[in-house]
Amino acid sequence: MHLDEIDTPALLLDLDAVEDNIATMQRLLSGSQARLRPHFKTPKCPQVARMQLEAGAIGITVAKLGEAEVLAEAGLGPILVANQVVGALKLARLTALLRRGVDITVAVESEFNVRELARASRAAGVRAAAVIEVDAGMRRCGTAEPAETVRLARLLLEEGIDYRGIMGYEGHMYGQLEPGPREALIRDALATVRSHVEALAEAGLPPAIVSTSGTASVPIAAAMPFVTELQAGTYVFNDLHNEAFIPGHFQFALTLLTTITSVKERYAVADCGMKSLTNEFGPPVSPDGRLRAARLSEEHAIIVGDGVASLAPGDRVELVPSHGDTTLNLHDVYYVRRGGEIVDTWPVLAARRFR
Ligand SMILES: Cc1ncc(COP(=O)(O)O)c(C=O)c1O
Repeated sequence: MHLDEIDTPALLLDLDAVEDNIATMQRLLSGSQARLRPHFKTPKCPQVARMQLEAGAIGITVAKLGEAEVLAEAGLGPILVANQVVGALKLARLTALLRRGVDITVAVESEFNVRELARASRAAGVRAAAVIEVDAGMRRCGTAEPAETVRLARLLLEEGIDYRGIMGYEGHMYGQLEPGPREALIRDALATVRSHVEALAEAGLPPAIVSTSGTASVPIAAAMPFVTELQAGTYVFNDLHNEAFIPGHFQFALTLLTTITSVKERYAVADCGMKSLTNEFGPPVSPDGRLRAARLSEEHAIIVGDGVASLAPGDRVELVPSHGDTTLNLHDVYYVRRGGEIVDTWPVLAARRFR
């Protein structure tokens, strides 16, 4: 099928670009002891996770149990839930996965988490596995002090939980636009993670897993000898936001195909709005940079830029999302392309699996 035969708005996934991004990331990690456990929050699609595993990833990271269930169903893993699993309803789903033999590790950050996880796994007759999340400076979740991390590691062992190590995500790097200060911030965050690693080692509890990093911090984290794995996600599709933080490495694999429905003197209107495209990280733009979705309402995009002069109603244009993850989460299917040909359709199976 040709691109012209699919109705719009439609989410296009450029398979050549995905393959290239996966190969680029593997190249970035050559010579590093750190391995990749890519975050599933970006592709939300088993076909892409399988490509990442085949290229050398050691497992998959997820944010939510719903994503883990999609991977488990596809037989993909081992899975790291880089998040706390809280409450009886969620723990029942986690222990159900463990009972099925799924290799799944969750993050804990408090005595509450450890005790709840221990109670649920004892009741279900399974052995849970956990890493301790440390706060690398993002001020989201995680232990603040190395001594607290050591206490939790001991508690995991006392409670019969498989203690696998620690994780720390330096996501606050995306708040720092200047490259110099951002690099300093990333190095500080990783030094914080290292202080937890050292405290654990001194206590006789060296972590087997030390998992850190999003796409933009990979080049720095991969050179840190104490980091064992990386959780980068966005690299696989890239978007305008990611490109601003790590320019020139990854291709834009994801675009939204839209139809121009109206052309005015200074702007055009496209048939996509905030129900099919997001703009919280800025306006989506065309791949050649000549068109910009300056404003979105629910089902309309106001398109501006010097490319507008040559547009006519019925034209089809592609827009690169500023934030791919939230855009793709609105869709049910990727139209997988090679050049102008649609070669497959892949369901975005974990879209909206936010539970
Ligand atoms: C805990 C955690 N790890 C890793 C990532 C991946 O980061 P990136 O999208 O920059 O690759 C995220 C992103 O939200 C995250 O929340």
